Amino acid sequence: MKAMMILTLACLWFMATPALAQQQVKIPEDISKLLTQYACLACHKADAKVIGPAYVDVAKKKYTNAQIVSLIYNPKPANWPGYPPMSPMKNVPEKDALKIAAWINSLAKKHS
Ligand code: HEC
Repeated sequence: MKAMMILTLACLWFMATPALAQQQVKIPEDISKLLTQYACLACHKADAKVIGPAYVDVAKKKYTNAQIVSLIYNPKPANWPGYPPMSPMKNVPEKDALKIAAWINSLAKKHS
C-alpha cells in the first residue's frame, strides 16, 4: 500500500515538473551575461515583478527595439505607475542595449 502511494506521488511529480519548467522564461546565456553585467537583474526578472516590471510585461507594450533602447537611456516612469523611477542606464553600449531590447520583444511572441 505504501509502495503504491510512493509510486503515485512519483508519477505526479514527474508529470508536474515539466509543466512548471515551461512557465519559467529561460534567459539565453549571452543575454543573461549582459543583464548581469549592467545590473538589470537587480531590479528586473524575465517573468516576475521585482523593483521594476517583468520583461514579459514590458514586451506586452509592443515597443519597437529602438524605443526600448531609448527607454533604457531615458526611462519614462509615467509608463509604469506604482513603480519607483528607473535611473537612466547610459553606460550600456547601444549594441548591447539593442540585443537586450530584441530579446525583451521576443518574449511577447511566447506569452501572448
Ligand atoms: C535600480 C533598479 C533598476 C535597474 C538597475 C534597472 N531597471 Fe529597468 N526599470 C526599473 C523600474 C522601477 C522601472 C519602471 C519605472 C520606470 O520605467 O522608470 C523600469 C523600467 C524598465 C523598462 C520599461 C520602460 C518603459 O517605459 O516601458 C525597461 C525596458 C527596462 N527597465 C530595462 C532595463 C534594463 C535593460 C536595465 C539594465 C541595463 C535596467 N532596466 C536596469 C528599475 C531598474
